[in-house]
Amino acid sequence: MANLNLLKDGPIQVKGDFSLKDSEGNDVDCKNVVFLCRCGASSNKPFCDGAHKGANFSG
Ligand code: FES
Repeated sequence: MANLNLLKDGPIQVKGDFSLKDSEGNDVDCKNVVFLCRCGASSNKPFCDGAHKGANFSG
């Protein structure tokens, strides 16, 4: 079971037992804690790379 946390003005934190797939259905290698971009500015999608800070993302 996975736990989702929306971090203020930042990514979605996903923790627990889960799998992640790309838009073509391929498994994405990840650990049991990931931070997923929700601002659209990451250069390493689907993962957050910290770019939300410079993008002044609010959410
Ligand atoms: S949420 Fe961090 S780079 Fe998009």
